[in-house]
Amino acid sequence: MASPFSDPAFYRDRYPVYAAMRQRCPVAQVPLGGSSGTATVVTGYNQARAALADPRLSKDTTAFFADRPSGRALHPALASTMLNSDPPDHTRLRRLVTRAFTPARVQQLRPAVLALAEELVDGWCPGDRVDLVKGLAVPLPITVICQLLGVPAADRERIRRWSSDLLATGDHERIDAASHALADYMSGLAAAKHREPDAALLSALVAVRDEDGDQLSELELVSLSVLLLVAGHETTTAAIGNSVLALLQHPEQLALLHADPNRIAGAVDELLRYDSPVSIATWRWAPADSRIGDAEVPAGSPVFVSPGAANRDPGRFADPDRLDLGRPDARAHLAFGHGIHRCLGAPLAQAEVEIVLRLMLERFPGMRLAEPAEQLPWRHSRLVRGLEALPVRL
Ligand code: HEM
Repeated sequence: MASPFSDPAFYRDRYPVYAAMRQRCPVAQVPLGGSSGTATVVTGYNQARAALADPRLSKDTTAFFADRPSGRALHPALASTMLNSDPPDHTRLRRLVTRAFTPARVQQLRPAVLALAEELVDGWCPGDRVDLVKGLAVPLPITVICQLLGVPAADRERIRRWSSDLLATGDHERIDAASHALADYMSGLAAAKHREPDAALLSALVAVRDEDGDQLSELELVSLSVLLLVAGHETTTAAIGNSVLALLQHPEQLALLHADPNRIAGAVDELLRYDSPVSIATWRWAPADSRIGDAEVPAGSPVFVSPGAANRDPGRFADPDRLDLGRPDARAHLAFGHGIHRCLGAPLAQAEVEIVLRLMLERFPGMRLAEPAEQLPWRHSRLVRGLEALPVRL
């Protein structure tokens, strides 16, 4: 059987593929293509929720590849992020950064995020044709996370390129090269913050490393900052593009938000459910034979949990392929994951999407797609479902 992940059609429209997989078996063995064997792919909602929080499934990729040399040259920092670790390491690392992303902290950041979004669209006029991805969905989240971390503005463009390469499914050479470029860059920046600290997060992490190497090693410092940088913008960029597209394709739902902008914040959950930016969650694996729901998972199997598929499970959400901003249970979505690895940046991401939608609706009430939706280019990434470009007529 061919791997769905090698088929370009999968990246254009994943939902029929997910639906067929779920119908066959919500926890299935799926070929990964080439000589990569199979993975356990989880497409049912209950099974996905259970798997995301299952302590028997490990996220420790270093342990997985220790017995299975991959021949890859990924920088070790990329294989040892908080998202690739189990407790107690995960607990220790997460605790170091939790405070920077609480809802209260995000509340304080909102005026700066709004000012930045306004600055980005200030030159735009009704009637213009713009690429919303290039002009807004990319620069806003990367600027926000770079400012939070203390990454200089001049370096944002190359960071964005490396980060995008990192998520290019299948192209191992490109991914490995990007991992070194990003890790080396972060290591250099940490050295600069050690010499000249500022008030941003990276300097605070450097101080933790300097005071107590048991709390945070040099490698962990680099991996944590790379993770925050990549996780902090790629997904949010996709969320902004997917949300605007979904609204432009559903004018009756968009009209509800025009009629009552107070509904925008609540609408974000349904938009994230409808077209989830993290379509297939990050690497998990089963160190021993185990079960997800009724299905057996053989020892050594990689486990790919799909929030994108789970969020369209008709067993959990009525008429799941319909965008319904009045859906009462939209908040049960798994777009931010579940369990101990649930998205650290969820409050920030939600605020960014909400701020963008509010601004675009207010300034450009007549906005519409400038190209047929079927022709829009989607990224070739198993993890992230997001648009390469979103041409709109303002
Ligand atoms: C709409 C935008 C976003 C979505 C849909 C999203 C989604 C997710 C998901 C599904 C996970 C769990 C992955 C897994 O278990 O395999 C996750 C983890 C994470 N996210 Fe987000 N994310 C978003 C924005 C952000 C932002 C703005 C940040 C800011 C720093 C961030 C930081 C993280 C981190 C650090 C983790 C790892 C948490 C851990 O391992 O404990 N994310 N995210």
